Amino acid sequence: MTTQKAHCLMLPYSLQGHINPMLQFSKRLQSKGVKITIATTKYLLKNMKELTNSVSIEDISDGYDDGGRDQAGSFVAYVTRFKEVGSDTLSQLIQKLVNSGCPVNCIVYDPFLPWVVEVAKNFGLVSAAFFTQNCAVDNIYYHVHKGVIKLPPTQNDEEILIPGFSCPIEASDVPNYVMKIEGPSILEVMVNQFSNLDKVDWVLINSFYELEKEVIDWMSKLYPIKTIGPTIPSMYLDKRLHDDKECGLSIFKPMTNECLNWLNHQPISSVLYVSFGSFAIVEAEQMEELAWSLKNSNNNFLWVVRSTEEPKLPKKFIEELTSEKGLVVPWCPQLQVLEHESIGCFLTHCGWNSIMEAISLGVPMVAMPQWTDQPTNAKFVKDVWKIGVRANQDEKGIVRREVIEECIKLVMEEEKGKLIRENAKKWKEMARNAVDEGGTSDKNIEEFVSKLVTIS
Ligand code: UDX
Repeated sequence: MTTQKAHCLMLPYSLQGHINPMLQFSKRLQSKGVKITIATTKYLLKNMKELTNSVSIEDISDGYDDGGRDQAGSFVAYVTRFKEVGSDTLSQLIQKLVNSGCPVNCIVYDPFLPWVVEVAKNFGLVSAAFFTQNCAVDNIYYHVHKGVIKLPPTQNDEEILIPGFSCPIEASDVPNYVMKIEGPSILEVMVNQFSNLDKVDWVLINSFYELEKEVIDWMSKLYPIKTIGPTIPSMYLDKRLHDDKECGLSIFKPMTNECLNWLNHQPISSVLYVSFGSFAIVEAEQMEELAWSLKNSNNNFLWVVRSTEEPKLPKKFIEELTSEKGLVVPWCPQLQVLEHESIGCFLTHCGWNSIMEAISLGVPMVAMPQWTDQPTNAKFVKDVWKIGVRANQDEKGIVRREVIEECIKLVMEEEKGKLIRENAKKWKEMARNAVDEGGTSDKNIEEFVSKLVTIS
């Protein structure tokens, strides 16, 4: 009797921050003998600046083959059209794989695209939702979905008690979609992630058990939850996988040599790394405050300013200031940067990948959340894991330069920041243990793989 190899089709949402973790999870599965095919959109595949060759990649249409997400005009318009066009084109891909003698057994999908479950059912496949965001954020959206928690709260400092959370949170800690700042229709997409979650076979979370014990235990009573993170390349954690080091699936081109050469000339733990991820848009006034805080701080800095954001930098900032004490680049190899011995602190927008990466590499943080899940992530960084401070906004919603400078100083220099720096090191160890042999995430991945093998 011939046993067929388990074959997973992975469908990430079309954003860098969603593609990265799914690619890394794919590599873990592949190292345990599962065949992987990643499906991405025609537009992204055409525009990738880095294309790994360690997994096979196929394209499907999201209805925007020429312009991608930007062509849609809004998030809601994009996911709506992706559903209409994607259901057919994903089905065609599955059929193509069957015809070529490589049928899939399982679809791992991003729950921003909940319709994938129906496609999986039509083909008799098992399915796994892969939540890019952490369990705490998922728990908040779940409770909004169930109508258990009536948000937004009426007062800013009102305490919100959420089942599964070890401490109350405030309005400034919940995702801004919940506060309806970005419009109720986006909240609907977030909440819809749960609309058919009772039909999936697994719920995979990009986190690790030790980091979110209480909330994972609580949600595990509702769904077949498996934490499988941190989803960063093995070479930065347990070093058990052969990684294609430089090559991911990226729509941006990193300035690798410039960054590493510059960092190589900086003293140990002296540099502040600043980045707001792949798509946050920072207000011009905020950009200016940030720029001056970097000039005034005692530390040299490496600042990622994407080319679309660069026009907001104060005039002459790059020539005058960066030549003295900083390097500004449109994109960097973030993991290599965070791993570099010269880095002492990460000023971050608190995208979940950035936080998982900072935790995995033991870098303390200054949290400056912008939108979506980032305020919740910042709350946990500061108050639960105690690996950073939060730079608070004024009543206009701007974080002023003095506040940023104070936060940087606290984390990088002051005695008060010592515990934060020590905690960061402690969590680094726990992150590695989770994915290392026999760790909580490793066991979950093993279990997932052995079930796949049974059904294949
Ligand atoms: C978004 C959300 O903000 C995040 O919270 C959500 O869970 C996933 O999607 P994004 O805003 O781009 O992602 O931030 P983040 O999650 O931090 O992901 C950015 C990724 O780009 C990270 O993996 C980071 O390493 C990478 N990056 C960023 C680089 O490789 N180079 C850079 O210069 C900046």
